[in-house]
Amino acid sequence: MSEEAEERRNLPVGFFDSGLGGLSVLKAALQLLPDENYLYLGDSANAPYGSRPVEEIRALTFTGIEKMRERGIKALVIACNTATAAAVTQVREKYPEMPVIGIEPALRPAVVRSRGGQIVVMATPMTLRQQKFQNLLHHFSDQAWITPLPCEGLMEFVEQGNLEGPELDEYFHTHLDPLVTDRLESIVLGCTHYPFLRPHLRRYFAGRKVDLIDGSEGTVRELRRKLAAKGMLRAGTEPGNLTLWNTAGPEMVDRSRRLLSMPTD
Ligand code: DGL
Repeated sequence: MSEEAEERRNLPVGFFDSGLGGLSVLKAALQLLPDENYLYLGDSANAPYGSRPVEEIRALTFTGIEKMRERGIKALVIACNTATAAAVTQVREKYPEMPVIGIEPALRPAVVRSRGGQIVVMATPMTLRQQKFQNLLHHFSDQAWITPLPCEGLMEFVEQGNLEGPELDEYFHTHLDPLVTDRLESIVLGCTHYPFLRPHLRRYFAGRKVDLIDGSEGTVRELRRKLAAKGMLRAGTEPGNLTLWNTAGPEMVDRSRRLLSMPTD
C-alpha cells in the first residue's frame, strides 16, 4: 500500500451533530469499528437545530463540516437526523470524493418487525416535516400504523445532562399520553439524542412490551460498507483514538465523555 493511502486510512472518521446526540451513534461505531480513529464535533453552541429554518441548518452543517475537514477526516457521518434531512444531498454534491453517511429515522426495521400494532416515530419537528421523512412515511403507510410525534424541546434534556426526573416524566406524559394507544408496539427514536433517554422511557412504559428502535447500528454498518468499498477501513495494530470537540467549549466536552459511558440500550 502506498504511503499516501496508508496516511488516508489513518485519518479519523468525522462525526457531526447539532450537539451531544451523535454520541449515541459514535458509541455504536466504537463497538463495531474499534480500529478507526474518530473526530466528533458537536455544535451545542447552535443547538437545537430542529426548530430552525432549513437554510440555517444547512449553513450550520456546512460550517461544522468545513471545520472538521480543516483538521482532516477521511469520511463523514452526519449523526443527526435533522441535519441529514436538511443537508445530506447538498453535502454529497459538494464533496463527491468523501464517503458521507447520514442517519434517518429507523422506520424500516420497525415496520419489518411489526405485528400490526402502533409505531410511534419521535423526532424533531424539522425531521418530520422534511420531504425525506415524508417519502419514508408514504412508502410504509399502507403496511403499518405509523404515528409521527414531533418532540420540540426534548433534545434539550440530553444537552443539559438531565436523563431522568419529574420534568422528563411530565414531558412524556404531555407528549406521549394523548397519542399512544393500547396497541403501541414500538417507538422509533428518530433523533440521535433520544437513545440516551432509553432507560427512562423504559421505566415510563414499565410493564408494557414496547420496542425502542434507533438507527445507530444501521448507520455504522453503512459506514463500514462504504469504507470497505473504497479500501479505506483501518486495520490498526493499535486501537483507534477519539477526539471530542464541541463548539460550546470544554464543559460540553466533559459532558460528552460522561455520556459516552452511559447506557443507550
Ligand atoms: N441529534 C439531532 C437529531 O438527530 C438533534 C436535533 C436538534 O438539534 O434539534 O435530529
